[in-house]
Amino acid sequence: MVGTKIAGIGCYVPDRIVTNSELSQFMDTTDEWIKERTGIEERRYAVKHEQTTTTMGTAAARIAIERAGINKEDIDFIIFATLSPDYYFPGCGVLLQRELGITKTEIGALDIRNQCSGFVYGLSIADQFIKTGMYKNILLVGAEMHSMGLDFSDDGRAVTVIFGDGAGAVVLQPTDKDGQGILTTHLHADGTHAEELAMISPGSHGGHYLGKEKFGFPDANKLGSIFVTQKMLDDNLLAPNMTGQLVFKTAVVKFPQVIKEALDKVGYTTQDIDVFVPHQANLRISQFVQKILGLPDSKVINNIQKYGNTTAASIPIALCEAWEDGKVKEGDLVCLAAFGSGFTWGSALIRW
Ligand code: UT7
Repeated sequence: MVGTKIAGIGCYVPDRIVTNSELSQFMDTTDEWIKERTGIEERRYAVKHEQTTTTMGTAAARIAIERAGINKEDIDFIIFATLSPDYYFPGCGVLLQRELGITKTEIGALDIRNQCSGFVYGLSIADQFIKTGMYKNILLVGAEMHSMGLDFSDDGRAVTVIFGDGAGAVVLQPTDKDGQGILTTHLHADGTHAEELAMISPGSHGGHYLGKEKFGFPDANKLGSIFVTQKMLDDNLLAPNMTGQLVFKTAVVKFPQVIKEALDKVGYTTQDIDVFVPHQANLRISQFVQKILGLPDSKVINNIQKYGNTTAASIPIALCEAWEDGKVKEGDLVCLAAFGSGFTWGSALIRW
């Protein structure tokens, strides 16, 4: 049976470095607090009005296409994962097609919204399409421009300090080389905690889920509009909502579970992993998971210190840098895993 390999990988981060100390000029936070709780030292912000989630995704995609040794017109399917799209609709997939200058219309473009696990979800989708023979060159992009949607007042400090901008991309192709490529992917979801890590307004919910008891919004019905309302502006509600400790505690359980599930499926153990690329959510989460798995530092890729949490872009950026640094070599068993908003989580094992 044909397998799916990563034929090319690329990443892009904007030039502008925003340090923890710079953030402390806008909000009540400190370099010490951010470093101690998250491991983050700095992040990148894109240039407002000049760059977008799609343009950063395009920059990463160009590199991945070149490294795959194909032409942009060879791409027959696009999958774009982001929670910070250029438009509410249409999605970034068609915008990426246009930015790349792909003029043929014999191509599909799919937008997925699985937030932190978007790249792993996208990989699994691409794998199915390649294995069935439907597509031969799938471009999978994870990109985020968080800096446009964060709350830079004290109210937003627990969320804002974590996130950064960037993009990563891979080209996926069929391979008939025995044992090479994506060995297995595992996807999970639990909507019970949907609002615990969410952008609630604007939206079409009409207040439906936001009773006073759970969220303390007495005027919940005024929060639900697909358009921005004065009430949302007055109440400073146009920013992500995150119950950090719940996310943290759930993540450190789900990461090891879903990795073990993948290893069991193909008959490997944690000892067989050569390179582990966790979603860069919080350095403490990654260190916790590393300890449970019993992996040495040399096998774990962490770059959250430089870029913060770039959600759908975090795994492809980390994987790309690791590959560029020679840390991912042919034949290596690469393990990817993610957990985030939804909650959704997943894992993938790839023989490089
Ligand atoms: O990709 C998935 C997305 N998200 C995550 O993975 C996030 C997972 N959760 C986390 O990373 C952590 O929960 C955070 C980094 C968000 C927060 O760390 P924490 O250790 O859970 O802190 P906390 O929320 O319990 O807050 C502790 C204190 C609070 O003050 P009081 O009530 O103890 O006086 C917060 O108000 O820290 C305060 N605090 C801050 N102080 C300085 C919250 N944010 C900040 C800040 N600077 N930026």
